[in-house]
Amino acid sequence: MSDQEEKGRTLKISVLRFNPQVKGDMPRMQTYELTEAPGMTLFIALNDIRENIDPTLQFDFVCRAGICGSCAMVINGKPSLACRTLTSTFPDGEIKLLPLPGFELIGDLSINSGKFMQEMNERVESWIHDKNMNNVDLTRIEERMDPDVADEIYELERCVECGCCVAACGTKQMRPNFLGAVGLVRLARYALDPRDKRTDEEFYEIVGNDDGVFGCMTLLGCEDYCPKDLPLQTQIAYLRRKMAFVK
Ligand code: SF4
Ligand code: SF4
Ligand code: FES
Repeated sequence: MSDQEEKGRTLKISVLRFNPQVKGDMPRMQTYELTEAPGMTLFIALNDIRENIDPTLQFDFVCRAGICGSCAMVINGKPSLACRTLTSTFPDGEIKLLPLPGFELIGDLSINSGKFMQEMNERVESWIHDKNMNNVDLTRIEERMDPDVADEIYELERCVECGCCVAACGTKQMRPNFLGAVGLVRLARYALDPRDKRTDEEFYEIVGNDDGVFGCMTLLGCEDYCPKDLPLQTQIAYLRRKMAFVK
């Protein structure tokens, strides 16, 4: 084995640099070179750059395990999670990183997805609507649920609010108020839940328009890039069919 092979190959990572907080700053690409380590993820590579080359580089992460959703970025043109992406998957070692489009930019690769997700959660009223909320009895035994329905709800609960589906959505890029697959699927989760007593007419008030389910063009960029493989296509179709029969 040559010295170079033993040391690992040289990666070239180009990152969009731009700090909208700094007056006069202009977007530009900056390339960093570093030595690849065995099993290296992009998350590790970016930390390596920040620790050893450029402490000003901005990007987000929390869990390093694909569960917090905060490390999503555009990796060689595709929205994805940096902590789940091995550098070895890029045969030429050249990687281009951009922040997810469709979100407020904080700086470099860091976006304000929290603000977007909070607005989405408020818009779809992301909680169980029980008409008897004023008479809550904490001693009451929880109602039983059909295990198949519980499984279907659990499947949608796996969303990590990473924003990849929003970044991959052409409609969202053209129509800023479009709810996006994450919001449509969140609503579908409550429409499935027998404990949520909202009527179809009430769900229609939230998503029965072009900023909701009728704006979706079903090109399915969202499903292609969801890192949790959520059944977005099935759920958006289910919601559209349900809403089409209201009124
Ligand atoms: S299928 Fe709908 S939500 Fe998904 S990417 Fe296309 S327009 Fe967006
Ligand atoms: S639906 Fe998938 S891509 Fe969209 S926010 Fe949830 S986990 Fe991410
Ligand atoms: S750091 Fe949490 S999903 Fe990547």
